[in-house]
Amino acid sequence: MSQPHLLLGQTLAFTADPFAEGLSAARHEHRGAVLVEGGKIAETGPAAALRARHPDVPVTDYGEGLITAGFIDAHAHYPQTAIIASWGKRLIDWLNSYTFPEEMRFADPAYAAGIAARYFDLTLTNGTTTACSFCTIHPESVDAYFAEAQRRGLRALAGKTCMDRNAPDGLRDTPRSAYDDSLALLKRWNGHDRLTYVISPRFSPTSTPEQLEAMGALWAEHPTCRMQTHLSEQVDEVEWVHDLFPEARDYLDTYERYGLLGPGALFGHAIHLTGRERRVLKESGASLIHCPTSNTFIGSGLFDMEGLVDEGQRIGLATDTGGGSSFSMLRTMAAAYEIAQLRHRALHPAELYWLATEGSARALQLEDRIGNLKPGLEADLVVLDLASTPAIAQRADRAEDFWEALFPTIMMGDDRAVQAVWVNGKLAT
Ligand code: GUN
Ligand code: ZN
Repeated sequence: MSQPHLLLGQTLAFTADPFAEGLSAARHEHRGAVLVEGGKIAETGPAAALRARHPDVPVTDYGEGLITAGFIDAHAHYPQTAIIASWGKRLIDWLNSYTFPEEMRFADPAYAAGIAARYFDLTLTNGTTTACSFCTIHPESVDAYFAEAQRRGLRALAGKTCMDRNAPDGLRDTPRSAYDDSLALLKRWNGHDRLTYVISPRFSPTSTPEQLEAMGALWAEHPTCRMQTHLSEQVDEVEWVHDLFPEARDYLDTYERYGLLGPGALFGHAIHLTGRERRVLKESGASLIHCPTSNTFIGSGLFDMEGLVDEGQRIGLATDTGGGSSFSMLRTMAAAYEIAQLRHRALHPAELYWLATEGSARALQLEDRIGNLKPGLEADLVVLDLASTPAIAQRADRAEDFWEALFPTIMMGDDRAVQAVWVNGKLAT
């Protein structure tokens, strides 16, 4: 058990969803404190009160630094770390030209281990304390990810990407091997330490109906796992799915009919949805994962944040590394802001920050563990410098309130804004 420790600084927590409750859902303390003990958040409140109650506990004073829950990236592809920012293609070409050749390399466990270490170095220096990642078809790629996360004490989610068609030789499994390998991996990792296994058919175009059915059966047998895939990212992709599954009512139905829908189902992108898909998604309790830097980078389209929130959909936020163009959840919040602006809705900084923390935690069904500054939750924290560059500092200096001081860091911040990261109650960077 780690010793108690008191962190002082500005603090930001949420008592409710700001999309529903407005600004009264946010609690900002200018001189706040977080007491960390045994890997958990033990207490939060005004610094003076906590110091008086715990006079002998060691203190780290971050001054004007902002202490919040660490960022939660609800959809990523860690094997695409080395090919992030590859120029000039749309989804299917981009997969064939850059992604599949790189993913082929993960048959080598040493290569997978090297990229997993690099990936967590990058996410942590960006203040991300939990990521939910696809791996490759190789079980070794899953072992590399979870072993590295476990070594660092991280809460992490991932699964073997399953594909049995429309992928090159060497990057296809079968319905049987996808089931068997995923089963062996979930037995090895799911629920161990802070790790959750995610059953991961890549998307309908690269799985036969037989494989989707096998994945649905596996999830029904192991309901504590999550299930992740992609849904309606690009218009061409949606048309391709109609050709591949002529019997399906729509793209979502290719998952629904095989048992791949329900609470704990995570659908990346979800841009070009029909009315039926939206209704069924809402009723099912599934989560939609917004990947804004990816949607602009690959030219996918504009996620309907306002409409989907109004319908009561469960929404998380994600980088989609390396279709996304950044490891930073600050950059990701900025892109979400810009996409919503193009649909004439200005997301408030409280809404953006909530999406990157508690919203993603709820999407991953982990809000009872992570995603907020709340006693009893795990102590995964980020400390932000709200004046990390001259451009940000001069704008923040003019701020009339806390939100105006935070917004320049959301819009212009990156890893330079990340002053410290605490993982499971211990200083990580
Ligand atoms: N759809 C299927 N696979 C992928 C992927 O790796 N990245 C993105 N952005 N979309 C996908
Ligand atoms: Zn993706």
